[in-house]
Amino acid sequence: MSDVETLFTNLWQDYCEISPQAAEIHELLSKRGNVHNDHIALRTIDHPDCGIECLAKAFEDCGYQFTDDVYRFETKHLRARYLAHADGHPRVFISALCLDEFDVSVGDTLVPLLSAEPVDMRHPGRPWSCNVETYENLLAHSEYAAWLYAFGWRANHFTVSVNHLDGFADIADLVTFLQESGYAMNESGGLIKGSEAQLLRQASTLAAPISMVFGDEAKELPGCYVEFAQRYPDADGNLFDGFIATSADKIFESTDTQAN
Ligand code: NI
Repeated sequence: MSDVETLFTNLWQDYCEISPQAAEIHELLSKRGNVHNDHIALRTIDHPDCGIECLAKAFEDCGYQFTDDVYRFETKHLRARYLAHADGHPRVFISALCLDEFDVSVGDTLVPLLSAEPVDMRHPGRPWSCNVETYENLLAHSEYAAWLYAFGWRANHFTVSVNHLDGFADIADLVTFLQESGYAMNESGGLIKGSEAQLLRQASTLAAPISMVFGDEAKELPGCYVEFAQRYPDADGNLFDGFIATSADKIFESTDTQAN
C-alpha cells in the first residue's frame, strides 16, 4: 500500500467507528458501482502549534499541495483551505476556528489540549481526555469547538462523488434514494446546497448520535456524517475543483446538536 493509501485507510477505519452509517452507505452505493471519494474534511483551531498547516503535514509528505483558495465563514468564525494531489487522490479540506474572535476561555481551554503534542494525521483520534462540563461550556460558544473537543483530529466527513456513481441521474436522485433508505439528511439551507450555476451541488446526512464516555459519564452527541458532491464543468469544460463557502457553511451544521 502506498503512503497515501495507508493514510486514507487509517482515516476511513477511524471514521467508520464514529460513523457506522458511513460504512453502510458505502456498501449500499458500492452495489451501484465505484464509490469515489471527492474530499475529506478535518477540523482544528487557528494556532501556530496545531493549525491548518500542521494537519496538512502528513498529506504534504505524500505529495499533496495547498491550492491558493482561502475560505472564510464569518458567522461560524472559521477559515479554511484545501490540498490537492496531482494523482487525483481526494481533496483534503481543513478548517480552523478563529480563536481571536471568541471569548478567551475558548482558546484557554483548547490550546493547551490541542498543542500538547504535535499533530500527526497518520494516527487519527483525540489524544486528550474530556469532561462534560468543558464540553457544555464550549458548546455555548460554538458547535464546532465542542465537536472538535469531543472528537479531535479525525475525518469529520468523507464525501461520495456523485460524478463517479452509476445509476443515479444526479445528486437529487441520490438524495431521494438515501431518504427512502432511511437516512436523515441535513436540511439547513435546503436538502441540496449550491447550484449547477455555481458548478457544485452538495448534500449531507445528519451526523448520527454516538455515545462518548467523558470521565465517568457517557453522553450522546453528534458524531461524523457523510457528504455527497456533484461537480459541473465551467465554460472551458474544466470540472470545478474548489468549494462554495455559502454551501459549506450549511454543511458544517450537520454536526449541530440542535439539528440532531
Ligand atoms: Ni465537505
